Amino acid sequence: MVTLMRWILWRPFGFGFSRRHLKVESCGITESESSIPLAWVSLIQKPNRTPDIFSLDQRKRFSTMPEIETNRRDSELFSPPSDVRGMTKLDRAAFKKTVTIPVLKVRKEIVNKLMRSLKKAALQRPGIKRVIEDPEDEESRLIMLDPYKIFTSDSFEKEELSILKQLNVSPQISKYNLELTYENFKSEEILRAVLPEGQDVTSGFSRVGHIAHLNLRDHQLPYKHLIGQVTIDKNPGITSAVNKINNIDNTYRNFQMEVLSGEENMMTKVRENNYTYEFDFSKVYWNPRLSTEHSRITELLKPGDVLFDVFAGVGPFAIPAAKKNCTVFANDLNPESHKWLLHNCKLNKVDQKVKVFNLDGKDFLQGPVREELMQQLGLLSKERKHSVHIVMNLPAKAVEFLCAFKSLLDGQPCSSELLPIVHCYSFSKDANPAKDVQQQAGTVLGVSLEACSSVHLVRNVAPNKEMLCITFQIPAAVLYKNQTENQETHDDPPLKRQRTDRDF
Ligand SMILES: C[S@@+](CC[C@H](N)C(=O)[O-])C[C@H]1O[C@@H](n2cnc3c(N)ncnc32)[C@H](O)[C@@H]1O
Repeated sequence: MVTLMRWILWRPFGFGFSRRHLKVESCGITESESSIPLAWVSLIQKPNRTPDIFSLDQRKRFSTMPEIETNRRDSELFSPPSDVRGMTKLDRAAFKKTVTIPVLKVRKEIVNKLMRSLKKAALQRPGIKRVIEDPEDEESRLIMLDPYKIFTSDSFEKEELSILKQLNVSPQISKYNLELTYENFKSEEILRAVLPEGQDVTSGFSRVGHIAHLNLRDHQLPYKHLIGQVTIDKNPGITSAVNKINNIDNTYRNFQMEVLSGEENMMTKVRENNYTYEFDFSKVYWNPRLSTEHSRITELLKPGDVLFDVFAGVGPFAIPAAKKNCTVFANDLNPESHKWLLHNCKLNKVDQKVKVFNLDGKDFLQGPVREELMQQLGLLSKERKHSVHIVMNLPAKAVEFLCAFKSLLDGQPCSSELLPIVHCYSFSKDANPAKDVQQQAGTVLGVSLEACSSVHLVRNVAPNKEMLCITFQIPAAVLYKNQTENQETHDDPPLKRQRTDRDF
């Protein structure tokens, strides 16, 4: 809540502060040296004292006073009070602080007109009204101005002065004691004031429905509950804050998490690329940073294509593909993912187009995938024009599952253009990650993929660790039983070199 304490006529500092000088000073607001004119600073420090009108001499004298030195260390006008430093349990009341703000008194009927021209000069703070009633004159309003920009009537830009003149408004600045509360500080300002000086402040998080998913560093852990609560308070729609407490090394790739603040309920609903997914975030894998990758793969698919999603999670490849009229076979070993995958297929009205399995990836490939490929690529399907795609998004392990393709099918190989296209994800810490992934996959399959695969950089997951997707058609020599090298070169035209998405 913003409380008017008092406003009195503010006289400019006088000839000693030229406009130019003030502008230069105002550039450094994030530096440790305060750029606020000393008179403003004194008012911040002593909110209950009626501010005097300072002459230049007084200002000079004032600058040597001890509280000014304190303020210089305290630095920013809009920082929370310094005594919140080290707070581990959030006490919102401790964030109250009074600052003195320059204001312009204007007739109420011209406020709207004037505000359009004073956009740059007006105060911009969360939850603070820029125009308030004048407690001394109901026909007037006070326009709050940015104290880093406006110090005296000379601080206005030429155009601003001209509009003030046109509207017959005196550019004389008055001052106003404004009470700032917890609500008026930004998340980063609060955490910067609370956490030890000079240490990193994290206000970044992944949003999963109503959940903010943080990944706090060790020095932030003593403040974890406060950080969680501030994250909830400052982000509308977030009602729960969780922290990752281990690396994602369990089978089902879901995070072990601790609820820092807010709702314990991890049942959530997210929208991604216009589809809706519901799931229990504590039991399944979901990463909002993969939405671009999900749509990149979906865009490669054409209506009628077949998609096998070996590690489907709760459906972010399978559901958009089914909406595109592809035939989809989606699998996940985690019974919870399987449950939510079924649910999400219904939710997005594609349950008739997706066959859902709860198998180990290898069993899925050697069972339902094999059976379907035998049909799709077999003699009965000579006329087929559609492609078969196999998505394998389990970057820590998917490459190992490629061995399931070796001699998977019997009989005569299909024509080369019908060979299934694999999109297999992997991590790499190598200096040449694309080549590394090509070698990883090639080694498992026993062929070189360097001339016949493309590699796409999905994202940087950690310093020097990339997530990549290698795309290639499974060579007939790998996919079909009893294929000798000679037969392969005879039956198949040479595999085309595919485009590399990124030059590594
Ligand atoms: C990285 S997540 C990807 C999920 C989804 N495709 C996505 O993009 O969000 C990997 C998924 O593989 C599943 N999984 C892990 N090991 C598996 C296995 N051996 N067989 C099948 N699924 C497995 C996990 O349960 C998890 O849902």
